Amino acid sequence: MHNLLENDLANLSILLERTKAASDEYLNSINERPPATAFAAKDRLELPEQGLGGEITLTVFLERYGDHMPASNGPRFWGLVTGGTTPASLMGDWLTGVYDLNLSHAANSIAPNIEMEAIHMLRELFGLPASFSGTFVSGATMSNFAGIAIAREWIGQQYGKSISQEGLHAIPPVKILSCEAHSSSFKALSMLGLGRASLKTIPRLPENREAADVLELKKALEGLDGEPCIVIANAGTVNTVDFDDLQAIAALKSEFRFWLHVDAAFGGFAACSPKFKHLLNGIEQADSVTIDAHKWLNVPYDSAMIFTRHRDLQIAVFQNSGAYLGAIAEPMDFIHLAPENSRRMRALPAWFSLMAYGKEGYRGIVERNCEMAQKLGARIEESREFRLLAPVRMNVVCFTLNGDAVAERVKDFLAKLRDDGRVFMTPTTYMGVPGIRAAFSNWRTEEADVETAWQAMKAHSVNR
Ligand SMILES: Cc1ncc(COP(=O)(O)O)c(C=O)c1O
Repeated sequence: MHNLLENDLANLSILLERTKAASDEYLNSINERPPATAFAAKDRLELPEQGLGGEITLTVFLERYGDHMPASNGPRFWGLVTGGTTPASLMGDWLTGVYDLNLSHAANSIAPNIEMEAIHMLRELFGLPASFSGTFVSGATMSNFAGIAIAREWIGQQYGKSISQEGLHAIPPVKILSCEAHSSSFKALSMLGLGRASLKTIPRLPENREAADVLELKKALEGLDGEPCIVIANAGTVNTVDFDDLQAIAALKSEFRFWLHVDAAFGGFAACSPKFKHLLNGIEQADSVTIDAHKWLNVPYDSAMIFTRHRDLQIAVFQNSGAYLGAIAEPMDFIHLAPENSRRMRALPAWFSLMAYGKEGYRGIVERNCEMAQKLGARIEESREFRLLAPVRMNVVCFTLNGDAVAERVKDFLAKLRDDGRVFMTPTTYMGVPGIRAAFSNWRTEEADVETAWQAMKAHSVNR
């Protein structure tokens, strides 16, 4: 063994203690750290000929980067849809690295039970029936990719073809219908050879809605004249957390042939609260469902689930048989269910957090985040500087600056806000208007954070 490795092995406990001390230092200062900072290019270090060993490497890292690491998992990172890391999920994540299991195969250890148990608990959290099987993937983009890939296989089946065997040229071009599909679905269509342009946008409902007009969807389905297609429904749009009427869309299945994929990346967590769970009525009739874990489940990146009621088609798409890998058998190797072959034990942080906080814990996170969004929304409504672009439906506040030259001023305002260091938000365009999103999905966020953020917002608004 190399002498530096030998030395690190002998001092492993000390190295872990040092790493824990660095973690404590970061986590204890998370409320004071800026949630985001501007990128600053640095000269690159060269690969050392002689390594430094673990202890000096930690020192170099902390000196070079430690103080600059932002609190994007803290209570005031409101950009994109960003969760945090619950204490228990961090414990699970640490152990994932400790065990370093390649969870591609089911027969080598007891560990596949962890993924199966986590999926079972998640189905309960989301109110999904047992007819849905679930698989961990790296994020909602990969989950949308997997769901649409399985849908593509189903379309082939409708023509008596197997896309996974024969390729897309065996069938006519596939049509996809959706209202406010997330950009990651377009990316999935590109990766799957279906093409971004194959998505036909269904008009929205009137009156400031981002949900599909189901009558328009019905018309589009009629126009396909019996051709099978894929409908991507949205359960929680990024700008205003609007939900398609899943029940009404699913009811169309009795008349038309389509695969229903629901992107519930973060809206799936509506199921955690009696106040919001009706928004998901009908989801049980979907063919595939995307839900992210690194958003509202508050587990570390990167983690999401793809749920489907068509595991046979999932296996047809993702099977990876090779003489040295063994035959397809139960318990099912995850290698046949997901885009990745080798994969980390991604389910363990989720398993820890679900066990540690249960249904009540997640209800609390979801409801508190939505309450905080309402509080910010109320401040904005009462102000002269800002205005809401849409009602606050759940955990996202979509707003803009009052006055002229909004596009430039939004950019300037957001940069100032980031550099101020009290809160971080990201830009958007809503119904053609340049706007700002404040998305609440971190378990730590409290009323005091809304107050702190509000003071920063007022300080940097141009019309004050
Ligand atoms: C509705 C929706 N779908 C998909 C995604 C993509 O998620 P990820 O970044 O985890 O791949 C997001 C991310 O915000 C989302 O909000």
